Amino acid sequence: MAKTVDPKEFRAPLTHAPLESESSAAWSDSNGNSYPLLSGVPVLLPDAKLALADLKIRARALLSHYERNVDDLRVLLKPSDASSAPPKLTKARLEKTRENQIHHLEFLRDLFEPLKLNRAQATPEPDFGYRLPPGQGLQGYFPNLVRDWCGSRKIGSSSDSPVDENAAQWSLVKRELGSLTPTRTLVAGSGGGRLAYDVHQNFSTGETFACDLNLVLTLAAKRISGGETLRVAEFPTAPKSAAAAAGVVRSLSAPKPAREGLHHVLADVYYLPFADKSFDLVVTPWLVDIVPNRLEFLLSEINRVLKPGGVWVNSGSFNFRFANWADSLSIEEAMEQIEHFGFKQSGFKQDLIPYLRSDLDAHERSEWVTTFRAEKTGPCPSPQRLPLRPSWLLDPQNAVPAPQRLPQIFATLESQAFVLSLIDGKRTLVEIASLVSQRYGLSGEDALDAVVSYLSRLEDESVFRSNVQA
Ligand SMILES: C[S@@+](CC[C@H](N)C(=O)[O-])C[C@H]1O[C@@H](n2cnc3c(N)ncnc32)[C@H](O)[C@@H]1O
Repeated sequence: MAKTVDPKEFRAPLTHAPLESESSAAWSDSNGNSYPLLSGVPVLLPDAKLALADLKIRARALLSHYERNVDDLRVLLKPSDASSAPPKLTKARLEKTRENQIHHLEFLRDLFEPLKLNRAQATPEPDFGYRLPPGQGLQGYFPNLVRDWCGSRKIGSSSDSPVDENAAQWSLVKRELGSLTPTRTLVAGSGGGRLAYDVHQNFSTGETFACDLNLVLTLAAKRISGGETLRVAEFPTAPKSAAAAAGVVRSLSAPKPAREGLHHVLADVYYLPFADKSFDLVVTPWLVDIVPNRLEFLLSEINRVLKPGGVWVNSGSFNFRFANWADSLSIEEAMEQIEHFGFKQSGFKQDLIPYLRSDLDAHERSEWVTTFRAEKTGPCPSPQRLPLRPSWLLDPQNAVPAPQRLPQIFATLESQAFVLSLIDGKRTLVEIASLVSQRYGLSGEDALDAVVSYLSRLEDESVFRSNVQA
């Protein structure tokens, strides 16, 4: 039986205070903060209470999205007017799609069971604490989970030979490990969890901590690496056929249950819930460029948790896209910066590997993956801790700074809201444009152009189904 996870292995994410068990369902720190356990996965996020409430809201929104899909498909399959019944092939596709949407809905319901969504309807408190990043939806990176554990997916490379993406990724990391035998390893941004599993299984002793803030991936990774088989529906981005368009149910399982000592934790890489100098190895797979803050914050946190002489291995894409051009470091600039944060690096390597290919999908991706190893030489000379929120959001007495484009943003939103307020199911475009023309002093022709342009954009957008990630 798997060892239960010990709170002594972790620390409070903000203060690094020791944790102790409060009950079978929660841990607490000496400041009275409580951290829930979800099916044995500790939620060690700053302001865990608010983060949990946020997760529940997102989980409910996601379930509602699939419930609506299932219902919409039911209506399409049994229209009230028999003459609009779909043709045979379409009907078959819709039936299969509905079956798989129901499957996915049931999968999510089962996965979210530890959230106890049907019991007390927790609502977040209106404070200024930590919230989960809005860009990191519950279904973000779901294809990574399928890729990680779906041994049965036959994926052809351009030369048509099957490619094992997990093995390709693991070989890049393994190359950097050399003779290292870590006693404690952290995989930060572990996603579906396969690389953490491969690292862990490579050694016969030692503990591995897989940390991510995605609830779906983390709960699924824990169950699969523990030996369970989960059956999930894969819905490809660009289906190759009607069968692919309806989705395919895949069995996700590990080659064998992970040996003891692989732990999954819901945590934020900027507030790692671990003591200083507590790891010999930190691995960041496909993480550094997808997180929304300057690299120095991550470098400081990785340095903090590594023991002196400890090793950091990074492998993945390297493509910063910050609004501030100066922050979008090239790999060469990043390698230089790493040295200023208490590391010694020995250069980077780039390898072309297949990425998220599926036999169902017309899209096929290859990526030049950047891999490097850096050793901790000492503490960061000037560590950078990511502020939880800007000071004006933390202290309601501070002035809210005006974005440079505020007048423009305000004017656009206000005029769009005005147009929407005029839609009552009776007014024509000409009547709406005439009111817009009076209010904003536009010519009748310019007002009509503006109204038509805005409303036709809304109409066009309504044609496509949006990808809800909650
Ligand atoms: C591109 S995916 C890579 C996942 C996995 N390493 C892989 O290679 O398949 C990035 C991962 O980082 C996680 N992530 C994003 N921001 C994070 C944060 N602040 N703290 C922890 N994990 C984060 C996402 O949930 C996602 O699983």
